[in-house]
Amino acid sequence: MNHQFHPDTQAIRLQTERTTHKEHSVPLFMTSSFTFDTAEAMAAAFTGEDNSLIYSRYGNPNTDELIEKICQLEGAEAGFAVSTGMAAVFTSIAPFVGRGDHIVASRAVFGSTHQILSNILPKWGITFTYVDPEDISKWEAAIRPNTKMIILETPSNPGLTIIDIERVNHLAKKYNLILNVDNCFATPVLQQPIQWGANLVTHSATKYMDGQGRALGGIILGDKKYIDEIAQFCRHTGPSLSPFNAWLISKSIETLSLRMERHCSSALQLAQELERNNQITKVLYPYLPSHPQHDIARKQMSAGGGIVTFELKGGLEQGRKFLNNIKMCSLTSNLGDSRTIVTHPASTTHSKLSEEERLSVGITDGLVRISVGLEHISDILWDVLGAIPSH
Ligand SMILES: Cc1ncc(COP(=O)(O)O)c(C=O)c1O
Repeated sequence: MNHQFHPDTQAIRLQTERTTHKEHSVPLFMTSSFTFDTAEAMAAAFTGEDNSLIYSRYGNPNTDELIEKICQLEGAEAGFAVSTGMAAVFTSIAPFVGRGDHIVASRAVFGSTHQILSNILPKWGITFTYVDPEDISKWEAAIRPNTKMIILETPSNPGLTIIDIERVNHLAKKYNLILNVDNCFATPVLQQPIQWGANLVTHSATKYMDGQGRALGGIILGDKKYIDEIAQFCRHTGPSLSPFNAWLISKSIETLSLRMERHCSSALQLAQELERNNQITKVLYPYLPSHPQHDIARKQMSAGGGIVTFELKGGLEQGRKFLNNIKMCSLTSNLGDSRTIVTHPASTTHSKLSEEERLSVGITDGLVRISVGLEHISDILWDVLGAIPSH
């Protein structure tokens, strides 16, 4: 059979080899280790002469299946699954830097990525320079002889800044740097950074990949030579994904493409409605023509994603009122769920930052973030538009 299946089909049909029971749905391989018939077979597994499974910290049929599916969607050579999105971000950096090395990073990275760069890596003598995500022309000046990696997130959380991956890749290749992209907001269904030159791609599988707010998970994908190093690093440091979470998320990947279609179409409708509302000063959604990097979003994303942010007139106070007026949507800090989630970063997730720090990553006092869920769009519009305070 030489038919090449579409990645969406692979995400449904790729499956761990059936057991002797010929089950249809994939079983859960809830086992810490795997057995061998002979001493020789066990020795061969440990020397790496064959690919037999040894211990679930190194690999497990459920995690292997999940990795294979996401590799197909991302167009990646290899991957490794870990326990959270932050474990993915950390293990995509740590094996490649040491004392005296330097990282260039977009300023608009997730808060915990910021903590890794500014509080954890400096303890080991690794420094970083932030660059403006909206002005790539200035990034070259930040590169030093000891720079090893460029890190970026697009679209960014929560500011929805879009960075031209292809342009940054030219810079990465010119200086022989590893390009590391957090693709959590877009998912591999909407954007494949590897296609634009990225060496490593990370995901919080906790978000759209699980898609139902149940399980934490993370995955790193990319060039085999880098993933092999990450796998060795994880084998000894131990952040591997549990078989149960891998089984759950792998099942969810079967519907990722379908779910993203609905997340995106509802988010676009909501963004368009919000743009018409006179209590709102600004709406950000990558596929709205008014988005500052709309052209880049059109180039590298096949749809605008499931997150909409907007700016309420009246700042902090109106943000709080808005949250208190919400009737159906959830007030919680997750995103990428089947249920619509509303957050007000200035009074919650980012309340510990100074106003200046918040503003430098695009978080104004009146900014509201909506992770648009899979409920009927009429109900999402009713709840969100109805909660906007009139003054
Ligand atoms: C862009 C981005 N990267 C990484 C993470 C971390 O993921 P996790 O919560 O699974 O560790 C998040 C979580 O919100 C995120 O939004």
